Amino acid sequence: MSPVLDLSALVRTARVIVCCGSGGVGKTTSAAALGVLGAKQGRRVQVMTIDPALRLAQAMGLETLTNDPQQVPLEADGELSALMLDSKRTFDRLVENYAPNDRAREAIFANNYYQQISSSLGGSRELVAMERVLEAVNAGSHDLLVVDTPPSHHALDFLEAPRRIVNLLEGSLTRALVRPYGLAARAQFNFFRQSSAAALKFMERLTGVQMLADLSDFLLAFSSMFEGFKERSHQVQTLMKQPSTGFLLVCAPEPGSLRQVNQFAERLSAEGMTIAGVLANRVSPDPGWQGGNEVAFSPADAALVDARSDRAFSAQALSHRLCQALEAAAALHASDMLALREVAQGQLPLHTVPRFDHDLHSMADLEAFAGQLVLGQSQP
Ligand SMILES: Nc1ncnc2c1ncn2[C@@H]1O[C@H](COP(=O)(O)OP(=O)(O)OP(=O)(O)O)[C@@H](O)[C@H]1O
Ligand SMILES: [Mg+2]
Repeated sequence: MSPVLDLSALVRTARVIVCCGSGGVGKTTSAAALGVLGAKQGRRVQVMTIDPALRLAQAMGLETLTNDPQQVPLEADGELSALMLDSKRTFDRLVENYAPNDRAREAIFANNYYQQISSSLGGSRELVAMERVLEAVNAGSHDLLVVDTPPSHHALDFLEAPRRIVNLLEGSLTRALVRPYGLAARAQFNFFRQSSAAALKFMERLTGVQMLADLSDFLLAFSSMFEGFKERSHQVQTLMKQPSTGFLLVCAPEPGSLRQVNQFAERLSAEGMTIAGVLANRVSPDPGWQGGNEVAFSPADAALVDARSDRAFSAQALSHRLCQALEAAAALHASDMLALREVAQGQLPLHTVPRFDHDLHSMADLEAFAGQLVLGQSQP
């Protein structure tokens, strides 16, 4: 049996909570609800979200795509602000901070490849998320940062992003592209570009990288920021390993999602990071059904059914149907709880949140979800 995860205590004591998990399990909703919980406990909380559903963003006051934190309207002793992580603008700021001079900065901004990598290419969103967390921790203006992460199929892409960029800059592809065609050999490179258009096209097709020549220029300019990036990457790793940073593994009670929790947990432990626990979301609620063949119907219930249904049921038929429905709901709940037993062999603290009967988009929904984070839930 898994130990119970005390999310109130986590929100009260952690400095950074990172919500991670596979696609669509409820990472963004959980991050926002943890923020609500933290603010209600009197803490100054910032939630950093990635692609929240439009209506949820609006409920949190994030009506425009802004990279800056907005105050969330909420009655609480503490404060809640939220921001959407905007890759492009954070990336621009990184370049501004780390480019060694104006020329390098201009060259990077003008580069086509930069335009792509900074707004869409794999890893950039993850890099940006970590960059913003570091910035916010260093600024020290919040007690707690709750970090949403992009859906990742590969465990912890976002943790690896800074290291990947460093590896990219250090790696053989960069060396191959930058060194022979470095500044001194730029004339030669231009010649190569003109004379080997066909070869370049072939390479482009082979590598799937558009504008290989542009990429070379980009890496050349970008490698001038190498030391800055390496240092940032190191700081991110250190922050993520601090005991006050807790990883919350959000999952659904489904085999694929649960398998991924186990992979995440293994990986995080291997990296020396603190796993706060598992938040199992959308668990079939417990109908509290004890079994039996009859359910007592009050006259008010019967009147309600009459009003809502276009068929008339006898009291007995109604009771029978309700028993069947309760039995089915109890079976669903039991099967979810059974599946959750397998999570990390019952070693990780676990908290379950029931499936609501509607999507969660308003502040009231978030508060209801936050309420479910503190209630004593039945554990598998
Ligand atoms: N317990 C719940 N009951 C009902 N609906 C839920 C519950 N938790 C989340 N949802 C809904 O499920 C949808 C997905 O949730 P959310 O956006 O938080 O997931 P995510 O893990 O952030 O997704 P992505 O991986 O795409 O970023 C949303 O519409 C949300 O309102
Ligand atoms: Mg999300």
